[in-house]
Amino acid sequence: MNELIEASVAHFRTLLSEQIARQERMEKSSGAKDFRTLDKITIGLVPGDGIGPIISSGARKILEVLLKDEISSGKIELRLIEGLTLENRIEKKVSVPDDVLASIRECDVLLKGPTTTPHGGWLESANVVLRRELDLYSNVRPVRVPEKGIDWTFFRENTEGEYALGSKGIEIPGKLAMDFKVTTDAGTRRIARAAFEYAKNNGKTRVSIVTKANIMKKTDGSFSAVCHEIAEEYPGIIADDFYIDIMCANLINESMQKGFQVFLLPNLYGDIITDEAAQIQGGVGTAGSANTGDEYAMFEPIHGSAPRLIEEGLGEYASPESILTAAVMMLRHIALPDKAAQLENAMQSVTCRANGTREGATCAEYCDEVMQAL
Ligand code: IPM
Ligand code: MG
Repeated sequence: MNELIEASVAHFRTLLSEQIARQERMEKSSGAKDFRTLDKITIGLVPGDGIGPIISSGARKILEVLLKDEISSGKIELRLIEGLTLENRIEKKVSVPDDVLASIRECDVLLKGPTTTPHGGWLESANVVLRRELDLYSNVRPVRVPEKGIDWTFFRENTEGEYALGSKGIEIPGKLAMDFKVTTDAGTRRIARAAFEYAKNNGKTRVSIVTKANIMKKTDGSFSAVCHEIAEEYPGIIADDFYIDIMCANLINESMQKGFQVFLLPNLYGDIITDEAAQIQGGVGTAGSANTGDEYAMFEPIHGSAPRLIEEGLGEYASPESILTAAVMMLRHIALPDKAAQLENAMQSVTCRANGTREGATCAEYCDEVMQAL
């Protein structure tokens, strides 16, 4: 037992050094790339697993129509990135094969379908690896339900918390298992700044910080404190605190829903609550998300690869709304707001709905309607 404890302590020491080095790198970061100044923007299309290739190919066809002029002038390139599939990752015994990561790094932004992560086992989520490798620290997830007055934007910290070391915990077999949660000041500052900047630039007056700082005193306590430090730089914006449990209730409390505007949360709470929020909007199949960093950005649905739909032969009925919403966010990010609005309007005019059942439309039917509207 003593040997196991010693090995675990040594492991922990290495993790601590690595995390301190990561936080020092963050402190030196030099700010975000400006897409307006680029002559050429390469959009990498990563299909993913399960329903991923189906919705991704629908999105690709739509982008080819929407960006016809930019593609023919060479301003935009749509580039298919192959090899980020569960089969290839298992065969190569790595979450993101080196050649795939190298091709991804040659793109400016990615439009990515969902990838599968097996429960337990050694294979780390490709999403988590990409977010970490590309340092995509800001996970932005909008949720809108106009008829209920809901217009929410979630800013989920995307590289820290339980995710930073999620596959590097300690296990003393048959006795205990221990995972780690990491919050750095630099990591919190940059996501807080992203949320407050968004609020300031979009006429929002309230940012709600959501933690469980009564229990996770060090990590969440520091997250909330650092967010409040940043809030002081934004005098017109109210920063208030909520615990994640009551916030889950508040999201479905009709008397409170309208009052929330921007949410700022650590990684895991942001993961969980954005599925709840997406359900209020009509399901996870309707929600897209942006993962942005200073250099790269990746846009994707918030849902998984839906292996059950594939097993039941319902893959072609998957809704592409999530990936198209992600594409709208991507177009805004690369400074093509008119194209973003055009796609958004086309989606709003579609009369059919794909919902993963035979009663609904197919993904292809939905995409055809979007293309006709463009
Ligand atoms: C999400 C997903 C991912 C996450 C999975 C696929 C790793 O649930 O983007 O919300 O947990 O972040
Ligand atoms: Mg999630």
